[in-house]
Amino acid sequence: MARALRLILVGFGTVGQTLARQLLARRDEISRRVGRVLVVGVADSRSSASNREGVDLAKVIRSKKRTGRVGELGTPEALELIREVDADVLVELASAGGTDGEPGLSRIGRALNSGMHVVSSNKMPLAVAYAFLMGRARGRDLALKYGACVGGGIPFFEFADACTAADSIRRIDGVLNATSTYVLTRMEQKGISMDEALAEAQGLGYAETDPSMDIGGVDAACKIVILGNHILGKSFSLKDVKGMDGIAEVTAARVGATKTRKKKIRMVATVDTTPRVSLAELPQTDPLAVDGPVQAAKFQCVSSGAKFIGGEGAGGLSTSLAVLRDVLAIGDLERR
Ligand SMILES: NC(=O)c1ccc[n+]([C@@H]2O[C@H](COP(=O)([O-])OP(=O)(O)OC[C@H]3O[C@@H](n4cnc5c(N)ncnc54)[C@H](OP(=O)(O)O)[C@@H]3O)[C@@H](O)[C@H]2O)c1
Repeated sequence: MARALRLILVGFGTVGQTLARQLLARRDEISRRVGRVLVVGVADSRSSASNREGVDLAKVIRSKKRTGRVGELGTPEALELIREVDADVLVELASAGGTDGEPGLSRIGRALNSGMHVVSSNKMPLAVAYAFLMGRARGRDLALKYGACVGGGIPFFEFADACTAADSIRRIDGVLNATSTYVLTRMEQKGISMDEALAEAQGLGYAETDPSMDIGGVDAACKIVILGNHILGKSFSLKDVKGMDGIAEVTAARVGATKTRKKKIRMVATVDTTPRVSLAELPQTDPLAVDGPVQAAKFQCVSSGAKFIGGEGAGGLSTSLAVLRDVLAIGDLERR
């Protein structure tokens, strides 16, 4: 029997658990496509589980639900797991952490040093150290894939790759933070305050308990840096972002006045010669003036004009499918 593709999952929250359910439910289909895929290690913030023959994913999901942990307390933490467990792919699905990219940055670095491919939905390490990590991956002939980092399940990178196959892109504008867009949309629709709209978004699971990275513009800044690096071939890092205007100061009165002028306030991230995040008043008919938990981007192609892509991409299922897409692409590579 052909060798299995062995994964370590770090982070077992919404995205990690949904991915685990997908791997279980679609085992036969995945196996037919890329051969056997085995999860040989799983870690959350306090525990881990590993088995070289494959962990029992159903049991890990039950354990997480029952105890809040994937394994016993005192088991190796994620970085040790990467050192100790023989695997082909690190799947980094942990919370973003700090704006220094840690602790995900060290995990991804260690995995690449150990000869593992990497798939990440954690955008912070890529936004902080894209050139360094890509250089390391290329130098070792490994894949570093991050489709879920921007747009969740919306295939921004695949769309951009198609746009640039016979043309090039010189500028990208994106409404890339679904939480902010949802909040602004509800303020427009109901005339409510930022705090009320945010509380509603948290109740529906569109905003995290601490939404500061979203409404402060850091999340959008990370995404535009990654898009600029992948699509425009730049080597930007989060510290290169010139201006990061969040929505925290936007009042119900300003939203109302903008609406009267048939415009919408949106947090727009842009990259050409520099990356930046600013608040823009867009005409209501602008394709970037999206509503609800939606993300959209405009790619300004040099010869063929503007191209738009957008939709609902966040959430456990969409994001875990983007991660699975990247894992399957590595499975395809390994089979050749
Ligand atoms: N949810 C989405 O729609 C979406 C979309 C695109 C990208 N993402 C990104 O994908 C990642 C996962 O998102 P999520 O929604 O699944 O987040 P989540 O539900 O908050 O889960 C985060 C997971 O990371 C684990 N973790 C935190 N610190 C860790 C550490 N030091 N070592 C190991 N594990 C650690 C947490 O452990 P505990 O369980 O022990 O707390 C938890 O299992 C994030 O980086 C997020 O920004 C999410």
